[in-house]
Amino acid sequence: MNVLVTGGAGYIGSQTCKVLAESKHYPVVVDSLELGRSEVVRWGPLYKLDVRDTASLREVLIKERIEAIIHLAAYSRVEESIFNPRKYLDNNVRGTLSILSAIVGTGVRNLLFSSSCAVYGSPAESVIDEKMDCCPVNPYGVSKVMAENLLKVASEQLGLSVMSLRYFNAAGLDAEATPGGLNQVETRLIPLVIRSSLEANSKFLINGSDYLTHDGTCIRDYIHIKDLGQAHLRALEQISESSPGYSVFNLGSGIGTSVLQVISEVESAVGRKISVEFGPRRLGDAPELIANWTSFSKLTGWRPNHSNLTEIVRSYLIGETLNQKSCFEFRPSGDALHEISLHSSGRGGLEMKLRENQGNASSGDLVSVR
Ligand SMILES: NC(=O)c1ccc[n+]([C@@H]2O[C@H](COP(=O)([O-])OP(=O)(O)OC[C@H]3O[C@@H](n4cnc5c(N)ncnc54)[C@H](O)[C@@H]3O)[C@@H](O)[C@H]2O)c1
Repeated sequence: MNVLVTGGAGYIGSQTCKVLAESKHYPVVVDSLELGRSEVVRWGPLYKLDVRDTASLREVLIKERIEAIIHLAAYSRVEESIFNPRKYLDNNVRGTLSILSAIVGTGVRNLLFSSSCAVYGSPAESVIDEKMDCCPVNPYGVSKVMAENLLKVASEQLGLSVMSLRYFNAAGLDAEATPGGLNQVETRLIPLVIRSSLEANSKFLINGSDYLTHDGTCIRDYIHIKDLGQAHLRALEQISESSPGYSVFNLGSGIGTSVLQVISEVESAVGRKISVEFGPRRLGDAPELIANWTSFSKLTGWRPNHSNLTEIVRSYLIGETLNQKSCFEFRPSGDALHEISLHSSGRGGLEMKLRENQGNASSGDLVSVR
């Protein structure tokens, strides 16, 4: 199938294109490259354009004989949305409207939409299913609810088969699809903790330590990017075989992980203690958000197979190493010298060594980051 992937040069989009190509689909990327990177578009053509440019988008749909769209292009930084709501509504809502306008009269019948658990806001229940009310607590969440509503109406009026996928926290890397772990402007928790573990004398700030959770820090549901990629494939197959209509599903791991658990996992992966400090809660942060993904699983047979914290953290370390063609070596506290070394020898050629021996370095020293 010829599939247009908006935002295909971004984090989730690049993984989605890889999975599509592996299943003999033809992914065509439209991305403004404002936040994405052209070098991750490897499985089909890239059109550098803004989805709000309806006329150009329509030309691409016709030229590439597009049959389905996966619409990921959006802004997604919650804090930024609070300070600049107009930017979020304009891109995330007007962008979706533009896609719907461009579709009219083309061969597109199927559309997957990247929605978010932000639509639920701060619900009373911590395990969330799709029947729960949408009460977003920030403009990003509002923009996703508005886009979902537009799509629901359009599915009826244009005879489209549309599925909104409400992702929880996408995490991890697939080194083949998304080379490079840590973005310059990084807002995601796990990469930030890893970065903190690599910097000498840094302190990691934890926002809030008095939530009603088992250790007082926020709990989130992390879904590995590889599992998300597979879910898109299943969803695409599902909607292309369905009659027109609208449906919505959660995608997550179903596992709640606290901020302190993330820190502890990174510490054991890099063999180094991370210094933390506790600050006030962040505006609009719910204490606990965990996905109930059973509806999607029942419909498509999908299951999250890679979404455990250990695999997620290790995938970032491997991805970062491939990106920088570097080698991290750490010497943790204690007598044993526990060394992780990750060596990149080109695409696909990765060596990861875990070694324990005795050494002279003082405890906790970062030996080298090259
Ligand atoms: N990452 C997560 O944990 C998460 C969770 C829930 C939902 N989502 C949603 O998934 C989608 C993808 O997220 P991501 O993490 O890959 O983000 P990302 O920033 O890595 O990718 C978004 C891509 O969209 C492009 N883009 C943005 N606005 C555009 C426009 N108007 N026209 C063309 N291209 C545009 C950017 O250049 C970027 O390449 C977003 O819709 C986001 O809201 C992400």
